[in-house]
Order: sequence, then C-alpha cells, then structure tokens
Amino acid sequence: MRRHLIAGNWKMNLNGEQAVDLATAVASLAKTEHADVVICPPAVYLDQVLEAVRAVRLIGKDFSIGAQNVSDQPNGALTGEISVAMLEDLGVSYVILGHSERRQYLHETDAVVNAKLRAVLGSSLIPIVCVGETLTEREQGETLAVVRRQVAGAFSGIPAELAQKAELAYEPVWAIGTGKTATPEQAQEVHGDLRKLMGEQYNDQLAATVRILYGGSVKADNAADLMSKPDIDGALVGGASLQAETFLKIIAAARP
Ligand code: 13P
Repeated sequence: MRRHLIAGNWKMNLNGEQAVDLATAVASLAKTEHADVVICPPAVYLDQVLEAVRAVRLIGKDFSIGAQNVSDQPNGALTGEISVAMLEDLGVSYVILGHSERRQYLHETDAVVNAKLRAVLGSSLIPIVCVGETLTEREQGETLAVVRRQVAGAFSGIPAELAQKAELAYEPVWAIGTGKTATPEQAQEVHGDLRKLMGEQYNDQLAATVRILYGGSVKADNAADLMSKPDIDGALVGGASLQAETFLKIIAAARP
C-alpha cells in the first residue's frame, strides 16, 4: 500500500516571519501517522523554516522540507542558482522539478527537467517530478500524449534503481490556481495511465510503488474525494497550503 504524501508548494509567497509562523503551525499540528507531509517554502526561507520546524518536531520521512527548484549543475559560475549539495547541506529532503510555471515562464524543457532529475537522483534529495497538460491540449484530446511525453523526457536514460526514488505529480495546467479542479475521475484516468507508463518504461514493481500526487486547486473540500481514487497517492497543494488550517484539513483527508 502506498502511503500518501501531502506536499505544500508555497511558490513565491510570504515573508520570512509569515513563513516561520506557517511552518511552526503546520509542523506542530500536522498528524502524520497516516501520511507523509512536506512543505516547500521559497529558497531564501528554507534555513529559517528548517530551524522553526526543528524547534517543534523531528524532521524525518513523515515530515520534511522541500525546495521548489534546483540547478542541474554541481557548482560554478551560475549567478542566482542553487545546487543540490547546498540543499542537502541545509537539511532539505525534497525538491519539486518541472513545475508547469517553470516550464511556461522560465522555459524549462523536458531536457532541462531530465538534467535536473539526474542531478537530484545522484543525491539524498527526493524529486517530485511535475507533469500536466494545458487547457488547449486537453480540449484537443492530447492529455495522455502530453503527460507521456513529459514523463518519458524527464526519465530518459535514467535507470530503474534511480528512478524508483522519484515521486510524480500530475498537475493539469488549467487547474492550477484557477479554482477549477480536475474531477476525481479525470485525475484518476491520467494517474492510471502514468502508472502504466512507469510500468512500460521500467517494471511492474516500480509502477506499483511510485507515488503519484494530484495538484491543481486542491482544497479542504475536494481533497478526500480526489485521494479516494486508487492511483492518487496524495496532493501537491499551492494556494491552500498557505493557510495552516486549510492545509491541515487536507493532510487529515489523506487516505489512511
Ligand atoms: P493551486 O493549488 O494553487 O492550484 O496550485 C497547485 C500547484 O501548482 C502546486 O504545485
């Protein structure tokens, strides 16, 4: 049985004090007997958030901190970039890769996501690889082809021993920050297909164990329905992760 993972992606929001307050509230109140939780603050607040969380609970597999992005390079003249080793040094456990906002606004291609994934899989960090179609692509019936291309691109040339460490997230672009959620059935269809694809690209065991999160307007009132589907193994939450009370409700909605 796959344990659910609830990830909060704070994106470029909050100031330092708010980040510390939110992290403290979530870390002290989140019940994690039934699910793993990760919060992903802006990079500049990672250190403060780690310290705040450490003050109220042990950071471990069930509750950890993630980054929203990382460089594919180990070091060097790359102004503004942050390396895998720097995140490890801080005590970060997860990193989100290939978010649609980075694909769309920062021109991250499948090849870039592949390079970052290779860098991360060579480290202690766990990647959350995001895929998802735009509204036009869905309307043109291309959803499955698009997510298959993104997964194949991200994992290209990566062997099963490494790939098995990754988490996937299906985030339909049209559902992100729009209040339009994919129905549990729409999401399940894509999740089922992604799992099948991991089986084809790798093996049945990897397909059976990989966690596939759903993201896109997940709220306290739709989380349980989405996560009741057999291939939806948790949630990647944007807006609703910025309030402790709502995020805690989503954590509570995870399947035991
Ligand atoms: P929203 O939950 O705000 O739609 O954002 C989803 C998302 O992009 C998480 O990575």
